[in-house]
Amino acid sequence: MNTRYRKTIIAGNWKMNKTATETKKFAEELKPILPKAKRCEVVVCVPACNLSTAVRAFRDMRVSVGAENLYFEKSGAYTGEVSAEMLKDLGVKYVIIGHSERRQLFGETDIIVNKKVHAALEAGLNPIICVGESLEEREMGITLDRITLQVKAALAGVSGDKIRKCVIAYEPIWAIGTGRTATAEQAAEVCNEIRAVIRNMHGARTARSVTIQYGGSMNPSNAEELLAQQDIDGGLIGGAALDPAKFVSIISAANQE
Ligand code: PGA
Repeated sequence: MNTRYRKTIIAGNWKMNKTATETKKFAEELKPILPKAKRCEVVVCVPACNLSTAVRAFRDMRVSVGAENLYFEKSGAYTGEVSAEMLKDLGVKYVIIGHSERRQLFGETDIIVNKKVHAALEAGLNPIICVGESLEEREMGITLDRITLQVKAALAGVSGDKIRKCVIAYEPIWAIGTGRTATAEQAAEVCNEIRAVIRNMHGARTARSVTIQYGGSMNPSNAEELLAQQDIDGGLIGGAALDPAKFVSIISAANQE
């Protein structure tokens, strides 16, 4: 973390978990245990059907709400899809784009990710852009090449001032939901490279202002070590974010730094 130049963001990614009723219950349980003074921004990304419930439930806790996906077109005949403007109008602030589950299970390509990033920024949403290598890619020694390509593709055509509104989440696919976390050194190496890619594209001032998160089995016992790394400015947390007490432990780890 480096709170001098950029925001630390602890974000939960609920994936396809919790109903609207369970969303309210989570908020009620979180409220009394959430640290009052936070050195980080806290975000919960919830399923689309729970967004308005979440915006209402978390409003007085200064917890921001994020969506887990959007469609890049503004409106039209796209049955089942949700646009950036629709999310913005609900009071949503962040949107996860290019999560590996969407890339792997729903055919999301780097080109689609780029279109979604543009759509989010145009509507005034802050995209949380996920990048990450597979285990095979890591073992082949092409992790940094893979990440560089994903970051360049996601940010293609995005101006420097808009890039400051983007969050990049480094999520090694082999660490997601597996209980197998990247070591702090592995995570730091990649997050450092992501910043270097942005520096090469848009200069040092822009690069140092971008929040870069780590995600992949982050939990209360490894959060502190990961967040102690200069270029790791927060976490995108799946499993551990579903439990209010564990989520708060990770927020507290960010508060300590
Ligand atoms: P995990 O998920 O913390 O359960 O590994 C992280 C993510 O997919 O964003």
